[in-house]
Amino acid sequence: MTDDVLDIPFPDAFSFDPSPTWARLREQAPAVRVRTLAGALVWLVTRYEDVKLVLADPRFSRAAVVAEGAPRVGVSRPLPGTLPTTDPPEHTRLRKLVSGAFSHRRVEATRPWVRRLCEELADDVVDGADLRRVFALPLPIQVICTLLGVPYEDRERFRDWVELSYSLEVSQRPRVEAAMASLKEYMGALVAGKRAAGRSDDVLDELCATPLTHDELVAFALNLLVAGHETSANQITSFVATLLRDRRHWERLVAEPGLVPSAVEELMRFTRLSEVGQLRVALEDVEVAGVVVRAGEGVMASIGSANRDPRAFPAPDELDLGRAPNQHLALGTGPHFCLGAQLARVELQEALGVLLRRFPDLRPARPVEELAWRRVLVSGLAELPIALG
Ligand code: HEM
Repeated sequence: MTDDVLDIPFPDAFSFDPSPTWARLREQAPAVRVRTLAGALVWLVTRYEDVKLVLADPRFSRAAVVAEGAPRVGVSRPLPGTLPTTDPPEHTRLRKLVSGAFSHRRVEATRPWVRRLCEELADDVVDGADLRRVFALPLPIQVICTLLGVPYEDRERFRDWVELSYSLEVSQRPRVEAAMASLKEYMGALVAGKRAAGRSDDVLDELCATPLTHDELVAFALNLLVAGHETSANQITSFVATLLRDRRHWERLVAEPGLVPSAVEELMRFTRLSEVGQLRVALEDVEVAGVVVRAGEGVMASIGSANRDPRAFPAPDELDLGRAPNQHLALGTGPHFCLGAQLARVELQEALGVLLRRFPDLRPARPVEELAWRRVLVSGLAELPIALG
């Protein structure tokens, strides 16, 4: 089986159910060759320990992912010189400059404001509404725009560009490249204006005062804008749909709201967010999962599969809202561990908390299994129409 090349995403991707392909690979071929939609041949690892190794080991590079001729997963090439596309020591330098703005303490201070925002958005959650459109999407966009100091009124200008940057459709490449150019132009002008104004109201103002160059700052701002958008929006939608799919979970949380923080961790573990994997390029020959990944070869770490590995989680396909311990990899591990982890946790906990309190009788308007998935790099339900009462 190791000699076979499989096409990724797999045919059983984009679904609520556990992937039989992931389960089979974990047992029979924990390192396998796969072909991405962009036509690249790379390794895929699926077991928890191997995924952890690939994510954290410095012999697997992120900087090499943006080098000329490197294997591609999606359509857009990630911007060079940002946190996800640098290796230590350059990565360490950049991360030190920005980590204060996303520290646990700084993010916790935004919690009351995030809660108020959830309450305001919940006013639009009416019978028949699409929860993704009226609540799950505006929340993280408003949060990241406010934190960064990007005018929320401009969202129509960058929404399509951001969405396209997640596309897996190779035929979309010219549109995606044009979108990236526009997005860079937009952010370049915004950053230049902020530098000239010399204020200290938000994270971008703060970053203007660091030794980051103009180009580094623009790339970083775009990275945050995109990273802070779709991930949390997809997660909020999928979390609610998962809890409503078996109503007992929703009802348990309505009755025990103190369980929300641990439920959020379990839902992060359980929810399928990426059907491909996090890409690295080996800098030297490395043995992993019984194969030798040669220097220059790409390897993808399937976080979704690792989070369902029975070697790491008892009864992995069961949703256990009180699961402890829960060392899931949904936010990554090692030097590239999600910079926005605490922000994501605050958004997800507050969003669920407010929805559970305001709408204990929330129901999906249609069976959630019938709803379409967005077939993109960071995936989730395309819509979640809801019914009240
Ligand atoms: C539920 C929501 C989120 C999930 C599941 C998530 C997941 C992840 C994962 C798995 C990684 C590591 C990728 C790798 O190792 O290749 C990562 C990195 C990152 N995330 Fe998040 N993320 C979320 C929300 C956010 C938010 C709200 C922000 C905005 C501040 C953010 C900013 C970043 C950045 C900048 C990195 C790169 C860090 C580095 O390379 O040092 N994320 N995220």
